Amino acid sequence: MCIEDLRRMARRNVPGVFFEYMEAGSYSEATRDANVEDMRAIKLRQRVLVDMSHRSLKTTVLGEELSAPLAIAPTGLSGMQHADGEILACRAAHAAGIQYTLSTMSICSIEDVAEAVQKPFWFQLYVMRDRGFVADLIKRAEIAGCSALFLTVDLPVNGQRHVDMRNGLSVPPRLTARTVFDVLRRPAWAWRILNGKRRTFANVDGHLPGGPGFGGTTLAEWTHSQFDVTVSWKDVAWIRSIWPRKLVLKGILDPEDAREALKTGADGVVVSNHGGRQLDGAPSTIHALPKVADAIGGQKEVLIDSGIRTGQDIFRALALGANAAMIGRAALYGLGAGGQAGVARALDILRGELDTTMILTGIDDVRKIDHRAIASEPPGGYAARN
Ligand SMILES: Cc1cc2nc3c(=O)[nH]c(=O)nc-3n(C[C@H](O)[C@H](O)[C@H](O)COP(=O)(O)O)c2cc1C
Repeated sequence: MCIEDLRRMARRNVPGVFFEYMEAGSYSEATRDANVEDMRAIKLRQRVLVDMSHRSLKTTVLGEELSAPLAIAPTGLSGMQHADGEILACRAAHAAGIQYTLSTMSICSIEDVAEAVQKPFWFQLYVMRDRGFVADLIKRAEIAGCSALFLTVDLPVNGQRHVDMRNGLSVPPRLTARTVFDVLRRPAWAWRILNGKRRTFANVDGHLPGGPGFGGTTLAEWTHSQFDVTVSWKDVAWIRSIWPRKLVLKGILDPEDAREALKTGADGVVVSNHGGRQLDGAPSTIHALPKVADAIGGQKEVLIDSGIRTGQDIFRALALGANAAMIGRAALYGLGAGGQAGVARALDILRGELDTTMILTGIDDVRKIDHRAIASEPPGGYAARN
């Protein structure tokens, strides 16, 4: 019925170590929770007695026509929520007429996904210490036909997720008594993973020091050794010079950074706090959105993620200045609940909720949704814009 139902199903199907990795926020998880709470606090304006028989959810994002203002955000380890998860989620996205972003930290490789789907997809890039390797990844994405590169800029270091540290999260899972017990209780998950070919970080494993399986380190230890606190706007300029297609900066929360982004030749930004997994204490993205959208001033595309759980949330994001919304966990819940069909269901639910919200607010075209659809300013009272 709703994304929450898919979440409950995923919790039953997926071993705890991976379900908890998906759910977690960094440190106190205050920003993760604020993403959802602040979204819900925004009240919409009900309008009545408007003929709504003709409606359009279609829009254009980064030059691509989408059936709705929606895309799947990059999430590492999707292939551990369900075997071949990245391929299945990408197929579901394309079948629904929207886009899919493949993470650098995926289980299925760029080449694997390219071979398994019919249309170009988007690729997300992390800048790691070894810039030669980063250049290689960019080349691989270009050869695979990826139509946009999402450069994630909010992870020069890993925001600690306590639960992953406690679980000793590693890929493939470390065989502790708890993991074995956990996996044995999910035979369908285990059967599919064991019968599948893909069980490691296929884009990076074997390409970087540490050897296969990163020499037995945990994900947190490995990330700490590879990610780079020196990353700066100079790297954005470098990446812009070697990547020929659309470039988007993912993880912009502050209007100053948005103004800096305008100078880079990037085609868009994603207002994101990484689903509350990085700077704990950062504002919710729906709170940050209006000011960032103001700073961008229509010169580049503005996407948003973090906390989108309903079609009403997509509507709120559009009303406060976004061109489209991206979903992380909402898609992963679908994946854990039922593979490709589960992701398809998640997209269908969100689309249906967005459509109903349009009818009840009297707006027949997603491109017409703007600040006038907001009934009240959210707590903190920031100026809505469009
Ligand atoms: C399990 C998980 C893994 C993630 N992995 C990545 C990643 O590899 N690269 C990245 O740029 N963002 C990653 N993110 C952040 C998402 O792209 C997105 O910003 C976030 O999930 C949006 O919040 P939501 O989950 O509330 O929709 C991840 C998020 C989750 C939940």
